[in-house]
Parts: sequence; C-alpha cells; structure tokens
Amino acid sequence: MTPATEHTAQARKRAAVAGHLLRRPAVLYEQLRRQGSLVWSGSGGCWLVVGHEAARMVLRDERFRMPGADQNSEWGDGAGHGEFVRSLLLSAEGADHDRMRRTLGPAFSPRAVRARRAAVETTIGRLLADIGPDGRFDGVTAISGRLPVSVVGELVGVPEPERADVSELCRTISQGGGLASGRAGDDAVRDAIAALDDLTVLVRRWLADPVPDSVLAAIRAAAGTPQALSEVEAVANVFSLYLAGHDTSRNMISGLLLRLATVPELLDDLHEGRRAAEAEVERVLLTESPLTFTARLAMTDVEVAGQLIRRGDRLRVMLGAANHELVTTGQSAGPLAGVAFGEGRHVCLGAHVARLEGIALLTVVARRCAAVRLVGDPRWTAHFLHRGLETLPLEATWR
Ligand code: HEM
Repeated sequence: MTPATEHTAQARKRAAVAGHLLRRPAVLYEQLRRQGSLVWSGSGGCWLVVGHEAARMVLRDERFRMPGADQNSEWGDGAGHGEFVRSLLLSAEGADHDRMRRTLGPAFSPRAVRARRAAVETTIGRLLADIGPDGRFDGVTAISGRLPVSVVGELVGVPEPERADVSELCRTISQGGGLASGRAGDDAVRDAIAALDDLTVLVRRWLADPVPDSVLAAIRAAAGTPQALSEVEAVANVFSLYLAGHDTSRNMISGLLLRLATVPELLDDLHEGRRAAEAEVERVLLTESPLTFTARLAMTDVEVAGQLIRRGDRLRVMLGAANHELVTTGQSAGPLAGVAFGEGRHVCLGAHVARLEGIALLTVVARRCAAVRLVGDPRWTAHFLHRGLETLPLEATWR
C-alpha cells in the first residue's frame, strides 16, 4: 500500500467507525462507563464526565463555568464583541444571569407554555397537510426541521415572514466561530459580525412594537426596571433562543418520528390512550439525549468522583453517557429525562417548550395517521454534539 492509499483506507475506517457511533452512541457510552465516572481524553485534552452523579455535580457546582470565547479573538473579553458573548444566558453567571432568567423565565413557565398548545397543534396539522396525497415525506425536511422555526419564532415574537432569515442570521453568527475560536480577518468572523449587526437592527425594530405575550414583549416590559436587559443582552438572548431551540428540538422530533415508524403498535396505543405522549417524549429524551454533551471550565481546583480537577482544566459533561447509565442500570423507571436538559442554574430554559413540541407532535400524528412506516434508510447527521437525523424517509397512511 502506498502512503496515499493507506491514508485513504484509514480515513474510510475512521468514517465507518464514526458512522457506527453516530447510529449507536451507546457503544461509546458503554466503553467510557467501564473506565469510570471521569475519563481523561488525551485527544480532546479534557476530562469526560461520564457518570450520572458526577455530571449532575459538575453542572450544579458554581466552580465550573462555561468556557468563554477565545481571548485572542474578536469575541474575547475586552474585544469588540466580548460583551455579546458574556451576555448569552449560558455564559452569564451570578446576578446578571439571575436577572436575565427572571425577565425571560415567565414566558417559559409550564403555564405560559401550556397556553401555546393549541397553536403548536395547528402548526403541526398544517405541516402534515402539506404532505402529498401519496403520504410520502422526509420527516426532517417536512416536520422536524420546520416545527422549531415556527415555535421559537412565535415565542420570541419574530414576525412570520422574517423567521427563516433570522434562522440564517443566527446560523451565520454561530458559524463565525465567535463562541470558540473566531479571529479577526477570518471571513466567517466578518460574516458573523455583519449578521450580528443585521440582527441588532431587527431586534431594535421588533422591540419598538413587540408581539404581545412574546419574549420580546417581556424584555420591553422590563425596560426601566431593575430587571431590564441592555440592547446587547436582548440581541444575545434572541440569538441564544434561536441557537438553543432549533437543532435540539429538531433532533428530538426526528427521534420521535423514528420511534413511531419502528414501533408499529405505538400509534394505536397513543390514539387509544393506552400510552401517554408525555412518557414517550421523556423516553426519547433519555435514550437519545439530543444534545450529547456540554462544556465546562474549572475555575479552581475541585475534586470530582475522587479525582482532582485542576483550575483551568476543561471538562466535557457527557449528557448522553450520563443518561445511558440511568437506562442500563434501570434507574429510569420514573418519567424523567435525566440530564437531557442539563441541571442547576443553567438548566434548559426551553425544556417545557421542547416537551410541548414532542407531546403535540405525537398527539396530532396519532389523531391523523393510522400508520407511519420507514420507506428508506434513515441517515444520522455527521455531528456528534447534536445527535439527530439528516434524512428520515417515511410514508403515512391517513385515518
Ligand atoms: C429537546 C430539546 C432541547 C434539549 C435537549 C435542550 C438541552 C439543553 C441543555 C442540556 C442545556 C444546558 C446546557 C449547559 O448547562 O451547558 C440547555 C440550556 C438552554 N436551553 Fe435548551 N434544550 C432543548 C430545547 C430548547 C428550546 C426549545 C429552547 C428555547 C426556545 C432552549 C433554550 C435554552 C436556553 C436559553 C438555555 C441556556 C439556559 C441558561 O444558561 O440559563 N432549549 N438546553
């Protein structure tokens, strides 16, 4: 074998292993679990927090924080856009984090979210109505990719015609590397900064006349009070909600559609009330963990699961692996999603929204469809952090 063909063969083998892990991450989770609650990853240069209790401890403990942006970048502290990154809910800590959650929180309460159920069900009905008479559709492009854009847009208070553009602006900001490694001069960073300027103009306009009962209306109502958000905080958190509420929900919804297609009796059981949509959603959150991990940085020396973590060490909290421990040890008897939504002060703000999307989906599909079946191979996205499907070829039979 020449070095070139050997290189190609190795690349193919790596792609095959990665493909297998994306389909069945449980294999990796099991391997990690055998090594303990905390595993050092030489290749990642970080600790992998694998055990469920250890993950909960790290997420709750204030001595661990979300790593900030690269200090030498446009997005680092003191740089032009450092304040934007510091204002994201996930980066903020202490009084600023509490203040922003107090202002944004009421729009995400169980009561406020329940009030949106009829509207979400109507949206799902419309998405199903768009499917052609032969009942064939791709679950990702027809349903799971579209539903979160509509739900998050409505919740934030983004006018319908602008929702797709805002998704694109937020994607450009996130791809600009701003949150990890953006460097001035890089095209992606320049595009991200231009997109951020555009988003700022839009947020300013929406805030002047906000949609009632939306997140933007809550931000506007807090103006002039001790809970007020600055303009940068408002823009950063519109971005946060778009980023956090799209790919995660999309992947959970794809997981639910796949389950409907692979457990034939599920649809009738839901329709006849033998199974509850709520419990099915919790099960998919626990077993699929749509966000497989999150990051933390140790602010001081801390002991976790008998291991000393040094100040400055990086950690990857493996949410999927921690949930896998619950599944394999049978601790998941309760209807809870483990750490799929995180835990502690940064626990997912949109957890009830995501649950509503899943419950409404199962309810409407069970009402409208007698069967949903696979008509091709589902393909998983080549992305380990956001575990989900890229294509899901399905066929529905209408009731
Ligand atoms: C199945 C869907 C979802 C999953 C699995 C999920 C998962 C998570 C997790 C694990 C965290 C904590 C991350 C950490 O501590 O590092 C988080 C935080 C967050 N999520 Fe979600 N999420 C979902 C849907 C949503 C939705 C629909 C929204 C909003 C519309 C949302 C908004 C947020 C926000 C704003 C935070 C940051 C909270 C804070 O730092 O205080 N998420 N999410």
